[in-house]
Amino acid sequence: MTHSSTSVCTVGVFDSGVGGLSVLKAIRKEHPSVDFIYLADSGNAPYGSRSVEFIENRASQIADALVSTGAQIIVVACNTATAVAVEKLRAQLSVPVIAMEPAIKPAVAHTKTGVIGVLATERTLESLAVARLCAEFGQGVKIHLQPCPGLVELVERGDLSSPCTEALLRKLISPLIAKGADTLVLGCTHYVFLEPMIRSIVGPSVHIIESSAAVARQTMHHLALMNNRALSACAGRELFLTTGIPKNAQAVFSQLWGACVEVQPFDHRNTHEEV
Ligand code: DGL
Repeated sequence: MTHSSTSVCTVGVFDSGVGGLSVLKAIRKEHPSVDFIYLADSGNAPYGSRSVEFIENRASQIADALVSTGAQIIVVACNTATAVAVEKLRAQLSVPVIAMEPAIKPAVAHTKTGVIGVLATERTLESLAVARLCAEFGQGVKIHLQPCPGLVELVERGDLSSPCTEALLRKLISPLIAKGADTLVLGCTHYVFLEPMIRSIVGPSVHIIESSAAVARQTMHHLALMNNRALSACAGRELFLTTGIPKNAQAVFSQLWGACVEVQPFDHRNTHEEV
């Protein structure tokens, strides 16, 4: 698919980088031939330690660009961008915006020990959105919020299982388990790709929850309401874009997507801005 050949039912998905591919995979699972444009802002990742203003501006510029490229619905496949910018995006765009949040509510419902751990970026964890989730659903449960600097960079490099990745994960997760957490929330789309390594560290008894399947179901529900006929005529067109270096991105995209894909440069002449 090229920028000029999008269908009447195209999903525009973006993240700070390759993490949102975990959400896109879930969308693909819900609808094997949905048409999509995926934009990884890898040239600016990670968002997790960036200023609120920077993230808001990037989210706004990228969402605009996706709509101009032909997206009829926007999926913010990034907890950080959602926490910081979703209200502005919804006010700005004329298309539906599907967004995501750390799965704190289901984690609270699931825990038996009354202790959960939430792994996410610094910016997500300090957001009002997470404070509200904890206040609304966290009564009677101890919620440990664990920022994870360094993890996004590893996933951006496709390093999902090296000793260095394992050591960092152990350092971040072990204190949560020691405090009695029996449920872990993966509150960043990049971390979903680390789930096998996290599972090998925590063993089978700890429950791991993430939001990609729920976001995918919500996206397909919206699309069906918008244009069910066009949805059934989708041809599985794919457009993968990056603000990073496409040649470098190719291998990691293919690794995480599970098939060889072509990654094109995102022309960000009109959207790039240093904040
Ligand atoms: N994947 C993103 C999230 O879900 C952002 C990670 C980052 O760039 O720091 O929060």
